[in-house]
Amino acid sequence: METTNIVNSMPRIGDKAPSFKAVTTQGNINFPEDYKGKWKILFSHPADFTPVCTSEFMTFAKMAPEFEALNTQLVGLSVDGLYSHIAWLRTIKDKIEYKDMKGMEVKFPLIEDITMEVANKYGMIQPGEATTKAVRAVFFIDPQDIIRAIIYYPLALGRNFDELKRVLIGLQTVDNFNVALPADWRPGDEVIVPTAGSCGVAKERMESKDENIKCYDWFFCTKKLSKEEVESRLGK
Ligand code: BEZ
Repeated sequence: METTNIVNSMPRIGDKAPSFKAVTTQGNINFPEDYKGKWKILFSHPADFTPVCTSEFMTFAKMAPEFEALNTQLVGLSVDGLYSHIAWLRTIKDKIEYKDMKGMEVKFPLIEDITMEVANKYGMIQPGEATTKAVRAVFFIDPQDIIRAIIYYPLALGRNFDELKRVLIGLQTVDNFNVALPADWRPGDEVIVPTAGSCGVAKERMESKDENIKCYDWFFCTKKLSKEEVESRLGK
């Protein structure tokens, strides 16, 4: 039987982020070790010099200060080479005006991955969609280097950047306040109090006179958490 060296693993939520060394537009990196204590968003795009990816990179560049304020390092990847990356990012900066974005400079590292080593390690090559390009994968990795959320988009659909930021803020809120977050949660909305460990505690909470707590049933209680409180802890 023929054997192959290709590792096409699929890291999952809760796994330690696989380590790798890579060449990027910002120099060599050792991931995730170089970003100790930070959140990381590792994302892939299918190819340089393509329109959907260009619109996404301009948006990433525009939002980079917002991710930075959330103590988050962006790291991009495609299976193109370094000189293609450099030429594409220069074209974006010098020539492309799109919506309200012009002169957008990408200052976060973009990994060259011609061998597809990193893309395969992270399950970014999904052969049913494309065998020679990465899909639009987004890995949210916490300061302890644990993968906390993963989103995949196909080649033809650009990412929703409001959602990427919402997921990051949501994960940081979960960690800082020991709560869960309901459907469509945004800062300022009510949060879910974790399910109590025993019936006694659940009953006590159901009967709580705390006006900040609202119970819909014994397993479903929410409490208020102001936007200001959330924002004061983000990025920590
Ligand atoms: C794009 O970014 O426009 C794109 C890339 C690969 C396939 C389809 C679209």
